[in-house]
Amino acid sequence: MPVKNFVLLFAILCLSVSNAFCWDIIPKPKTEKPEKELCGLNPTWKWMAGPDSTEAIRSMYRQFERWADTTATGYFKPLDMFEKCPRVVSILIDKNVKTGTEGYQIRIKKEEIVVSAKTVRGLFYGLVSLKQLVFPLFKERKPFPCGTILDEPRFTWRGMHLDVSRHFFSVQEVETYIEMLALHKMNVFHWHLTDDQGWRMEVKAFPKLTEVGAFRPQTMNGHHRDKPRTFDGKPYGGFYTQDQIRHIVQYASERMITVIPEIEMPGHCQEMIAAYPELASKDTTTEVMTVWGGTDHILNPFPPTFRFLEKVLDETMALFPSAYIHVGGDEAMKKHWRKNTRIQKFKDSLKLKNEDELQSWFIQQIDHYLVSKGRKLMGWDEILEGGLAQNAAVMSWQGEKGGIEAAKMKHYVVMSPGTHCYFDHYQHEPKSEEPLAIGGLTTLEKVYSYDPQPAVLTADEKKYIMGAQGNVWTEYIQTFSQVQYMVLPRMAALSEVVWTEVPSKNYPGFKQRLQPLSALYGAQGWNWCRKEMP
Ligand code: ACM
Repeated sequence: MPVKNFVLLFAILCLSVSNAFCWDIIPKPKTEKPEKELCGLNPTWKWMAGPDSTEAIRSMYRQFERWADTTATGYFKPLDMFEKCPRVVSILIDKNVKTGTEGYQIRIKKEEIVVSAKTVRGLFYGLVSLKQLVFPLFKERKPFPCGTILDEPRFTWRGMHLDVSRHFFSVQEVETYIEMLALHKMNVFHWHLTDDQGWRMEVKAFPKLTEVGAFRPQTMNGHHRDKPRTFDGKPYGGFYTQDQIRHIVQYASERMITVIPEIEMPGHCQEMIAAYPELASKDTTTEVMTVWGGTDHILNPFPPTFRFLEKVLDETMALFPSAYIHVGGDEAMKKHWRKNTRIQKFKDSLKLKNEDELQSWFIQQIDHYLVSKGRKLMGWDEILEGGLAQNAAVMSWQGEKGGIEAAKMKHYVVMSPGTHCYFDHYQHEPKSEEPLAIGGLTTLEKVYSYDPQPAVLTADEKKYIMGAQGNVWTEYIQTFSQVQYMVLPRMAALSEVVWTEVPSKNYPGFKQRLQPLSALYGAQGWNWCRKEMP
């Protein structure tokens, strides 16, 4: 056996012994004080909620019930009245719990479990931990130790993104995605709703965005590097109605998840231009894009375009109560800004030196508009290129450079570098045995090793790092089952990156805790990649 494997095996053996008296929770809690005695929880126990905790309890019970139906009906019986009795799981708001607003405490005794938190959100996370603890008890009759868990997250932005433009996922699939996030205490769902290959949000003011922009005539086969290119010849598309979007936003909020919509501009807009050619910078019509990769179609920067975008953003803001609205800003090819004499004259009239400054000016107009409506703009790190808009937050994807630059300028940042946070990359070698992916190699261990606060930042600058996010671009992900395969268990690793303090992280221990968690994936009918399981 190679020395490396021997060392890993030894570490897992040591952890098995020490974990015999610890809890299998992912992300790993902040402090855990297990005791030798075991908790006697069984199906005869009662589950009771304090009067203040009803909202969290209701949403959690719905999840528990659905799950309990297939595993052990009878565990989760909410009682209206809070009463003191033995063999009970009590769920209470308690302002004296020593954590921040997202934290919780679980006190486990032989004949009593008390989950308490200052807020409903904290209680929800306590219940998520309890769900992970109780599951092996159903499955393997494996009891867990008494003791105390006191927990709260390291970061406030614990995000997962989903691209529904390149491939479209049903409302039910998006609900399941939200369930997946909730089980890992992730709290932001970044919904990538628009891109060159399909517009997915109903906009009442501009019906052609969905009538035209939501459907492409066909889709390329294989990888975008393949030559010659071939196509499937099948029309493809879909979109979410405003009612469906409201439902998703509510569904997520019941699981303590904020939905951040992304409306791309001024690049990645070929589908918008196909529907409304007057928005173009190039003097021809086009179709919704049928190939993967970049496009040189770009919105023009003239006043009617801004009036159009403002109406789109008005409807977006009415649907999404999030503080941040993501406006993309990445990979805008500026060829047609350079070639268009009217745009060049316009740029000169604004005394802008180049097209990067014009893009910055474009984003600033949108920034002012969003701020005037009480919202904040977020964009990919390209929005730094010609000068960052006054109030903008940056999502750093081209490595950490953009995030570092923005944090030094005292702008808020979400780290999402392609090296560690792109879940459309391959996760295992040999790549030939994996489903076709865009490229890269982002293993479970690599995700786990990530620290969103770069060492080059000072303690004060580090405060501008709100957290990190995993991105799921779907050019090569046709089905929801494959989304799950790409995301699980890498999201579990990311959840410890954004929740657990660095000294408490431990990769062999994480892999061990992954085993019961993946059994829970299976119990819920989710697909996941098993190749990194010990
Ligand atoms: C990106 O991956 N183009 C943000």
